[in-house]
Amino acid sequence: MMKQTFFSFSLLTLFVLHCTTCVAQPIPAPLPPPIPSTPTASPPAPPLPKSSPPAPPLPKGSPPASLVPAAAPGPSGPANVTKILEKAKGYSIFIRLLKSTSVGDQIEKQLNDSSNGVTIFAPTDGAFSTLSSGVLNSLNDEQKEELIQFHVISSYIPLSQFQTVSNPLRTNAGDTSKYTFPLNVTAYPNSVNISTGITNTSLSGTVYSDGQLAIYQLDKVLLPVNIFGPKPPAPAPSPTKRKKENDDSPSDDNNTVTDSSSDDGKVNASGAISLKIMTMQNMVFSGVAMVAAIVLSL
Ligand SMILES: *[C@@H]1O[C@H](CO)[C@@H](O)[C@H](O)[C@H]1NC(C)=O
Ligand SMILES: *[C@@H]1O[C@H](CO)[C@@H](O)[C@H](O)[C@H]1NC(C)=O
Ligand SMILES: *[C@@H]1O[C@H](CO)[C@@H](O)[C@H](O)[C@H]1NC(C)=O
Ligand SMILES: *[C@@H]1O[C@H](CO)[C@@H](O)[C@H](O)[C@H]1NC(C)=O
Ligand SMILES: *[C@@H]1O[C@H](CO)[C@@H](O)[C@H](O)[C@H]1NC(C)=O
Ligand SMILES: *[C@@H]1O[C@H](CO)[C@@H](O)[C@H](O)[C@H]1NC(C)=O
Ligand SMILES: *[C@@H]1O[C@H](CO)[C@@H](O)[C@H](O)[C@H]1NC(C)=O
Repeated sequence: MMKQTFFSFSLLTLFVLHCTTCVAQPIPAPLPPPIPSTPTASPPAPPLPKSSPPAPPLPKGSPPASLVPAAAPGPSGPANVTKILEKAKGYSIFIRLLKSTSVGDQIEKQLNDSSNGVTIFAPTDGAFSTLSSGVLNSLNDEQKEELIQFHVISSYIPLSQFQTVSNPLRTNAGDTSKYTFPLNVTAYPNSVNISTGITNTSLSGTVYSDGQLAIYQLDKVLLPVNIFGPKPPAPAPSPTKRKKENDDSPSDDNNTVTDSSSDDGKVNASGAISLKIMTMQNMVFSGVAMVAAIVLSL
């Protein structure tokens, strides 16, 4: 009988442990916005009506000639970004990264599946060559993908509309808050300037524009703060180190501590609470189960 009880109890313990492990696992980071899948059953799409509107007149103080769209409207069906960039020449590194990160596929899907269009800031090979050597290689796959997504916007922005975009502009890299992926675009009479908080540059030409897809030339790679910038303020110093060792010097404490504790509160509170609830549930459950086990074994 004792054996049985012990056995049930071990099972229980295992179960509880297992549950706790489940709960303690971090919630996976949110994925980039899902690309809607195309219904396979639908009949083949009819050829697009040739309705691409004529380019709107340029605002007063038009940009220099180099910024004026160079390419004619594309053929029906989504434009092939790789092909366009290959033809434009001088984008081999960007093309390689579009392929290796599969951001190229994401763009093709967005162009095919959504009517919002896509805008791409395409850094030239020269732009990549100004990065110190090894920078690209030092990035892991996720960072590479984010870096390339940071150069893509899920809407078609013709040159004349940059003066109306609201900053920070959301890129496919996601979050635009200070330490993540902010990107500001400011239109001036003779230039469209871009700032990431690290990189300042301006559009140096239009590679392609057809009413759905716009590709602009950049002579610098847009470096996102999230990967290349300062990290958010450090969290509270580890509690083990500051166990009231003659702690009478308030000067250094006051800011850091209040700051981080309020942050922790916000970020961690929900997690902590749900953990507590789960633990209580476990306890109640194991109590009931243990009683049941004991009764059974009797
Ligand atoms: C786009 O163009 C590239 C190079 O020209 C080609 O390899 C690729 O197959 C094309 N993709 C599609 C979807 O047509
Ligand atoms: C584009 O969308 C059509 C249906 O809208 C689909 O049949 C086709 O496979 C899609 N092409 C790509 C490259 O996703
Ligand atoms: C972008 O613009 C917003 C709003 O104007 C501003 O708060 C932010 O500091 C700017 N960020 C960068 C990187 O320029
Ligand atoms: C970028 O421009 C802003 C103002 O437009 C300036 O404050 C900042 O120092 C510049 N950053 C670099 C890296 O040039
Ligand atoms: C816009 O960017 C260019 C360089 O890309 C710079 O020379 C110019 O000063 C910037 N304009 C403003 C208003 O920041
Ligand atoms: C933090 O210290 C500054 C001076 O260093 C003081 O002005 C401020 O009132 C202090 N804040 C708190 C919450 O103690
Ligand atoms: C809780 O806060 C700590 C310290 O700021 C942080 O390292 C940890 O990632 C946070 N946990 C969650 C679930 O956000």
